[in-house]
Amino acid sequence: MTRKSFYITTPIYYPSDKLHIGHCYTTVAADAMARFKRLKDYDVWFLTGTDEHGQKIERRAAEAGKSPQVFVDEIVDWIKELWDILDISCSDFIRTTETRHKKSVQAIFNQLYEQGDIYKDKYEGLYCTPCEAFWTVRQAKDGCCPDCGSQVEMVSEESYFFRMSKYAQRLYEHIQENEDFIQPPSRKNEMINNFLKPGLEELCVSRTSFDWGVEVPFDKEHVIYVWLDALSNYITALGYPEDMEKVNRYWPADVHLIGKEIVRFHTIYWPIFLMALGLPLPKQIFGHGWLLLKEGKMSKSKGNVIDPTVLVDLYGSDAIRYYLLREIPFGSDGVFTPEALIQRINFDLANDLGNLIHRTLNMVSKFSQGIIEGPSLEEGDYDRELKILALETSGEMEKLMDNLQFSNALAVLWKLVGRANKYIDETEPWALNREGKRERLNTVLYNYLETIRIISVLLQPFMPKTPHKIWELIGMSNEPELQTWDSSRTWGCFKKGTRVKKSEVLFPRIELDNEGEQKPDKKAPASTAQAQDKIERMGQIKINDFARVDLKVAEILTAEKVEGADKLLKLKVSLGKEERQVVAGIARHYNPEEIVGKKVLLVANLAPVKIRGIESQGMLLAAVDSQGKLVLSSVDGDIAPGSQVS
Ligand code: ME8
Ligand code: MG
Repeated sequence: MTRKSFYITTPIYYPSDKLHIGHCYTTVAADAMARFKRLKDYDVWFLTGTDEHGQKIERRAAEAGKSPQVFVDEIVDWIKELWDILDISCSDFIRTTETRHKKSVQAIFNQLYEQGDIYKDKYEGLYCTPCEAFWTVRQAKDGCCPDCGSQVEMVSEESYFFRMSKYAQRLYEHIQENEDFIQPPSRKNEMINNFLKPGLEELCVSRTSFDWGVEVPFDKEHVIYVWLDALSNYITALGYPEDMEKVNRYWPADVHLIGKEIVRFHTIYWPIFLMALGLPLPKQIFGHGWLLLKEGKMSKSKGNVIDPTVLVDLYGSDAIRYYLLREIPFGSDGVFTPEALIQRINFDLANDLGNLIHRTLNMVSKFSQGIIEGPSLEEGDYDRELKILALETSGEMEKLMDNLQFSNALAVLWKLVGRANKYIDETEPWALNREGKRERLNTVLYNYLETIRIISVLLQPFMPKTPHKIWELIGMSNEPELQTWDSSRTWGCFKKGTRVKKSEVLFPRIELDNEGEQKPDKKAPASTAQAQDKIERMGQIKINDFARVDLKVAEILTAEKVEGADKLLKLKVSLGKEERQVVAGIARHYNPEEIVGKKVLLVANLAPVKIRGIESQGMLLAAVDSQGKLVLSSVDGDIAPGSQVS
């Protein structure tokens, strides 16, 4: 039986500059999907690449004093390295400057010309170079590009045109009849209402005002419009039109993954070109949302881009991948903040997953000399609950993955991680050991390991490195049949008698100093004592853990700015009988004058620390939203300073 094929693509990125974390977002998502489908035994083809022609690149190269080819070569090398460190498992990387691509694009242009879909005329209109897009005067209000806001330029040149109108009705029907074609659905309505309903204009498909492009084969004055050149990559990379083997095997694409700003090119231009070539249309175009920064969209001109190589260097590629896939529902916009990244690492990875493994291995080493004996036949309620959840998890994840719901799929997996941690608390292996209940102890230890095995298997699409590290620790590296996706549907695969290793910290916590800045020793793993200490107190806490925190109502008596630290205010607060000096990182959110007299909540038994040389004797509680807005906590009504909060 031949395996089902699965063809997934990312946009081909402009090598006009180094890529940022936004580009990684799409590529990591495509990679997770490709890995998932491979695990499900599909015949996967995963394409990415670079879109190297056009006026924008030509200008950027000139500014850098380089030839366009030399300029893009350097950046493309950097991009390939980036995909390497992010474990991007692409099957091919297409560059539009490669001969295989240029030849094919020329053949496509020829065919479209010969069959009369392309004709020569004169173009007069507006052009946005950053988007490489044509606009009408009505669309480009006030002379600005409706997509990116840059100034458009008046262009008047002899050009080749594509007869879009000829295919408009067919496209309209295709979009209406195929629910899944444009996802998420909101993007479909936008395309219909803004572009198809008003009527499609004929599209200009060549330029004469610059040279950096694929030449029109029969008219050397013209280069092929960059979007016709670029979109064709999805088939030229398969060998179209000369070598049809891969085209027949993988086309039509199962999904083109793109950002929402280029949905128009992919759902209008591209399907129409394909119709003209007599090729089937891609099954789906998924336009995901944008990764934003607090101050808006990432853009090279704003100089606010996040360099992904720096992030990978600091936290490791698996953690970055996890964050990108977990934090924002795929399809929606979301804000990237270093704080949220660190929280994901500390809570989800270090606390939840890391400690599950750490606790388990420590206990196996302490209570069972590192050897996993078999489970007994008797099964209790806790055992059954854990087992049922573990066996349901892959099916739940599959449904979500098939809809590209990466973050929900990970949430489902983390539910199992949480359940496993709870199961440890419920089964109290330390008590079983103390009381000499050997058989029961063997059973629960086995169940921890089997659950960890299933979790590690299901992690593979998202975090390629971590499963191997886990397998090394739990003695499963050389057991390929225990690593298959489908093995996660069977309980009891983990082998009796397996020797597991001593624990090691998979995800060190990122420690922050009081101003929220990362400490320089962020990479150092927590000491064993610290780790032990954390294991005992991870996840849920008991009431007496909470009681250790001394919370009091404090009245702010004075407040002043701290010289040279624009985040900090120095406060004097009253606890009734006593006064304290507190340094708080709230200066961007509160003026000193406006907070004097406020009653707020203070952690009163925090060991004093020096911040910028000033002693701080406690910490104020505040709430911060995902946009970074901060408000101090307070009490609901009048109450004397010094009152206990519990
Ligand atoms: O548009 N958030 O290339 P490009 C999320 N060459 N995704 C982002 C992002 C962000 N802030 N910034 C970029 C082009 N992306 C054309 C494509 S395809 C035939 C030609 C991702 O370098 C997202 O996938 O401007 C977006 O569509 C793509 O990078 C744009 O990359
Ligand atoms: Mg762009």
